[in-house]
Amino acid sequence: MKMLLINGSPRDGGNTSELARRFTEAVGGKADVEEVRIFGKNIRGCSNCGACQHAVIRGHCTIDDDMSSLYPEFIAADLIVLASPIYMWQFTPCTLAFLNRLHCLCQSRDFKYNEMAGKKMAVLVTSGDEEEVADFAVNGIRDFCEFFSIDYRGDLRIPFADKGRIGSGEYDAELEKFVSEVLG
Ligand SMILES: Cc1cc2nc3c(=O)[nH]c(=O)nc-3n(C[C@H](O)[C@H](O)[C@H](O)COP(=O)(O)O)c2cc1C
Repeated sequence: MKMLLINGSPRDGGNTSELARRFTEAVGGKADVEEVRIFGKNIRGCSNCGACQHAVIRGHCTIDDDMSSLYPEFIAADLIVLASPIYMWQFTPCTLAFLNRLHCLCQSRDFKYNEMAGKKMAVLVTSGDEEEVADFAVNGIRDFCEFFSIDYRGDLRIPFADKGRIGSGEYDAELEKFVSEVLG
């Protein structure tokens, strides 16, 4: 199984990156994991030019930025894991920009094409407060997956996140359970 782990945390070595590291360790050899840190990449939001929706060029975005190299990675992946801290009850802006730009992979008026259908998706989030602060973001991803016929495999939330505790093994049992749910 090919897994694309999109790390949308601005902090290299912060709570979310530590969680992504522990998650990848828990996956071990059960999947081929490619992690991409997207903060700092040039990923603009969708401009609603409409080219992809009118199937001018199937599955092609007219914006030429760092998403261009991520589309092939996304299409090749069986499972996409989004890892993000919660910022203002949402995923980080770069994570949201990444999600925006998946628009071109599906002609969503009459589904003449949908490059996302059949993929699996899961979410890893860290937050400063209780786990309910992630409800808005996670519910949005659930709806996203349902709409685009993606198999939503679940979310692992680390509330009151602390990198030291994440690294200490405190969440190992939860991670192990989550990995088996995600990989099915
Ligand atoms: C701009 C900003 C907004 C945040 N908003 C929230 C929030 O709405 N709810 C919450 O629980 N934590 C919030 N936090 C805290 C982070 O989610 C938390 O510290 C997270 O684990 C940071 O992950 P990182 O180390 O990968 O950056 C916010 C942090 C920042 C910098």
